[in-house]
Parts: sequence; C-alpha cells; structure tokens
Amino acid sequence: MKLTAAVIGCGNISKFHFSGLEKTGAKIKWVCDLRKESAKPWMEKFNAKYTDDFMDIMNDPEVNVVNITSFSSIHKDMCLAAIDAGKSVICEKTLTTNAEDSYEIVKKAEKAGTIFYTSYMKRFLPAVEKGKEILPSIGKILSTSIRAFQPWGDMWSGNPKEGACHTPPGGKSVLVKNLGGGVLVCGGSHILDLVCHFLGRPSSLYAYMAIPKDRDYDLQAAALMETENGPVHYETLMHSLDKIGYLRDGWDETIEITGTKGRINVYCPFWDKVDIKGSLMVHCGSANGTATEYRFAPVSPFDRAIAFFCENISKGKQGTQSRLTGYDVDELISCITKSAKSKKALEIKWKI
Ligand SMILES: NC(=O)c1ccc[n+]([C@@H]2O[C@H](COP(=O)([O-])OP(=O)(O)OC[C@H]3O[C@@H](n4cnc5c(N)ncnc54)[C@H](O)[C@@H]3O)[C@@H](O)[C@H]2O)c1
Repeated sequence: MKLTAAVIGCGNISKFHFSGLEKTGAKIKWVCDLRKESAKPWMEKFNAKYTDDFMDIMNDPEVNVVNITSFSSIHKDMCLAAIDAGKSVICEKTLTTNAEDSYEIVKKAEKAGTIFYTSYMKRFLPAVEKGKEILPSIGKILSTSIRAFQPWGDMWSGNPKEGACHTPPGGKSVLVKNLGGGVLVCGGSHILDLVCHFLGRPSSLYAYMAIPKDRDYDLQAAALMETENGPVHYETLMHSLDKIGYLRDGWDETIEITGTKGRINVYCPFWDKVDIKGSLMVHCGSANGTATEYRFAPVSPFDRAIAFFCENISKGKQGTQSRLTGYDVDELISCITKSAKSKKALEIKWKI
C-alpha cells in the first residue's frame, strides 16, 4: 500500500519525523500546526497542504498515516480522532500525560485493530538492538541497572527565571503544561520503555522523586522495580555535569544487565545529536572471559523507527511492536509518582 501521511505538530521533534517519513517514500500530504510559521518550511519542502485544524486531516480519505508530534498534553484527542477515522498512527512519546488517557487510547486502538505506535525511538538504536539480540546468551538475568542522567544545566540551585522550566508562583511551568512533567516524563520515559523492552512489564515498585518546593516538576526519580527477570535499579536525573557519560558530553544514559553467563552494557547517545554520535554495546561473556565492544556509527533511531512503522503499515500489520507500549510507560510513570508521594511500595495493576 502506498502511504500518504500527515504530520500534526511542526515543532522541534518534527524534523526527525519528516526525515524518517521522507526516507520511506511516503507522500506527505498535510502539515498541521496552530502556528503557520512553524508549518511553512515543511509545507514548502513537501508541497503539502496546511491546516491548523487536525480534523481536516481525519476527513481526508487519502491519508492513511497520521504522525503526531504535537505536545503530549493534546495527543489524546488527535489519537482518538485518527483511530475513529481509520488511520494508522505514529505518535511521539509520551503517549499522553496520564495513564488513564493512554489506556483509553490503546484500548480503542486494540478494539478497532488500528496499526498504532508510540514512537519510543531508542528501541531502534543499533546498540539497543544488538543488546536485545545478545541478551539470551547471558543466561538467567540476575540484576539490571538503568539510568538516564541528562545535562539540563543548573536546575538544582533555584527556579529558573524564565523558559520552559520556570514555574510561576501558583502556576504551571511550560514543561508540565505541554509535556506533563519533568525528567521522569521527558528523559526517564525512554528508559522505562527499555525496561519493558528488555525485561518485560514490572509487577511492583518502590520509588523516590525530588521535586523542589518552588517547582511543579521533578529533577530526579528513582525506583526499585520487580520483574520476572529480577530486580531493576532505575534512576533518571537532571544534572549540570557536562563531561560525564561514555562520550564525555554530559549524556549518561546506560543499561547494564547481568546474567549467570555474562553481562551487557548499552550506552545511548545524546538524543538529538543522532547524526554525529554513535551508540555503544559491550558484551562480557563468562564462557571465554572476553569483553566485546560494538561501536556503532551515528544513525538516526527516528529514521529507523519510522521505517519500521511504515513498512508494517504498508503491509497492513502491527508487526512485532505492540500497541500498548505508550500506555505501559505512562502507567509506570503514574505508579512511580504515586509510590514516591505515598512513600509506599506498589503493586502495578495493569489495566490491559
Ligand atoms: N523522542 C524524544 O526524544 C523526544 C524529544 C523531545 C520531545 N518529544 C516529544 O515530542 C512532542 C513534541 O515536542 P516538541 O519538543 O517538538 O514540542 P514543540 O513545542 O517544539 O512542538 C510542538 C508543536 O505542536 C504544535 N501544536 C500545539 N497544539 C497544536 C494543535 N492543537 N494542533 C496542531 N499543532 C499544535 C505547537 O504549535 C508546536 O509547534 C512531545 O510529545 C514531546 O514529549 C520527544
């Protein structure tokens, strides 16, 4: 099937989606943004139609793929309308800003048989793919440590005076209004997706979060989770160190999985420098006592994710990635938030 796509939301992240869609050969028929000036470059590049009303897209029978890159806080209406209109959906993460809305979307998509993806693109980093391939060789999994420590500048010494991270007294920061939270939602969500991807859904957790009194968002979140594949030590953090991480660029996002027969370490690069920073996977096997490094050239995980989604869509099948991944992460975010607030361990009650 020939793909005709529409992109809703032409802000920062959209360039990666336009690039991915263009490489698949999909026709980009519509671009949608409330701000025409954001849509204009893409309108011109793809000779696409412009609208500020996403329902124009839903009402166009030629469109078969809706690619949503607007704020997470407004994904719900767009996803539900696209499912109703019989379109396939690629939606940026996080799917919504709460587990209930995400559940409603994926339940509807499951019922309708919609081909539906939440685009957690880190699954498509070559180091993550290699780690997943090698995982069975490390035997029974005993322990996992996973962290996303991200350089956000000096966030700990006080409420920023301006910008998306400024919390006005009695009001909401742009971060919370548009995206739904701080580092747990923005950075930590990706590695929650990787927890599910590598180890399966956790069954319980106990969490900690640091939310300064003058802010409406978290600067740090940590959790101990229980999975069928052993305990997971999870942490995400905004920090101001610009030389940490495997590339010494401040980006310190790693997964370490230790098994009875070996260990894998996956190192993820700076999320938006995909054209210049490669990922790394190290495998230590106990059989021959060697460590093997897999250093991958920079490659866009967005392009690879969108190629995978579009290939499945053109064949009319969901493929190996479930419709539920966006809900899974939003349920974990909700449980981490609840556990940290109540200072109690929680059993995770998966709704679907
Ligand atoms: N995968 C990643 O690593 C990653 C990184 C950053 C952002 N994101 C996600 O991407 C999404 C967008 O983030 P961003 O940084 O590009 O934000 P952004 O603010 O730069 O862009 C969002 C765009 O959506 C438009 N928009 C808002 N309401 C709209 C509406 N009703 N109809 C049409 N357009 C509308 C805005 O005008 C804006 O241009 C969010 O869900 C965010 O969580 C993912």
